[in-house]
Amino acid sequence: MIPYGKQSINDDDVAAVVEALKSDFLTCGPKVDEFEKAFAEFVGAKHAVAVCNATAALHLAMLVAEIGKGDRVITSANTFLSSANCAAFVGATPDFCDIDQQTHLMCADALENMWTSDIKAVISVAYAGQSADMPRIAEIAREHGAVIIEDACHGTGGGLERDGKAYRQGGHPWADITTFSFHPVKTLTTGEGGILVTDNDAFAAQARQLRTHGMTREQNDFSGLGSDSPALSEQGQWYYEMQQLGYNYRITDIQCALGLSQLKRLPQFIERRREIVEKYNTAFTNRDWIKTPTLTCEQDRDHVSWHIYTLLIDFEHLNKTRTEVMAELRANGVGSQVLYIPVYLQPYYRNTYGYHEGKCPQAEHYYERCLSIPLYPDLTNSQVNHIISSILNLFS
Ligand SMILES: Cc1ncc(COP(=O)(O)O)c(C=O)c1O
Repeated sequence: MIPYGKQSINDDDVAAVVEALKSDFLTCGPKVDEFEKAFAEFVGAKHAVAVCNATAALHLAMLVAEIGKGDRVITSANTFLSSANCAAFVGATPDFCDIDQQTHLMCADALENMWTSDIKAVISVAYAGQSADMPRIAEIAREHGAVIIEDACHGTGGGLERDGKAYRQGGHPWADITTFSFHPVKTLTTGEGGILVTDNDAFAAQARQLRTHGMTREQNDFSGLGSDSPALSEQGQWYYEMQQLGYNYRITDIQCALGLSQLKRLPQFIERRREIVEKYNTAFTNRDWIKTPTLTCEQDRDHVSWHIYTLLIDFEHLNKTRTEVMAELRANGVGSQVLYIPVYLQPYYRNTYGYHEGKCPQAEHYYERCLSIPLYPDLTNSQVNHIISSILNLFS
């Protein structure tokens, strides 16, 4: 069975993990710092804070931006649950912007039209790896003083080009915070893992403290335990303070060792993903029952890091339901996935916020027709050809 996504692990990755396992630190050691520095440098950001998964990174993004009760946070309707749940974690109201009809990313016009004064953050999602129109989204959000977060969980290593200048996601000036996921189906994996990147010193410092229980061991930050008693005011090497309510969102040295090894391989991963996308695009163009993913703009062609390849299929034209199509593909050894159900249609969102069908018509239309087919670097050309013929045979 060819899954829709899969990690690529080679001997170098295994050796890196074994080395970490044999070292003095399994967690809170040097590999975490090393990975953070290497990742920040790679994307072109000042700070990177690595955590146990991207959901934690999104939660920290909300906390450091001081989003809370009474605030509204807008994300794309076409995303994974975490992009919205993070707002609910902090008591804010997650709300959803419809997607652009062509790019299927957050629609800047829709964002502008839905703006209300309680919107304090916008989380734009780099669905499939492509950034939405970030300059325009940033312009709208900044005019109202809202924080801009790019959920680039799909986009590791990718970027965009504007006015002749290329940027990586995490390194462009149109987001205050960017988050990435290192789940095994993502472009780079640490098993589970995520990272928050930012140029903002205060955001980074706060994220670091909240990642580990709100604790500090920095002498300059100590405020004391509130007593003149010599025993209580003693502050040796062992001393630490909890200054706010934090979490255990730490990532291990074992995971970061894998991340460092994968980072070296990332350019090849991206290249191979692009090659497969080109093969798919060539095979599936000019057919009236199938639509290939649209590039947001031509300049981005050599910058996008494709995470998923989602076809839009006219199931009525095929005279088959999507479930039947997926079963037919599975019978041929080809996995597929539906990405995504508009988040606000989930029972939790309907029941808690009163959202219902019709809220984001473009996202609903997309959901009705989308089907993601396998995309990962270790796919062989013969597997790609088999996937292509299995899809084309759906119509025969
Ligand atoms: C767009 C998006 N955001 C957030 C996440 C959450 O990532 P993680 O599984 O690392 O928590 C995912 C994971 O699938 C995702 O696809």
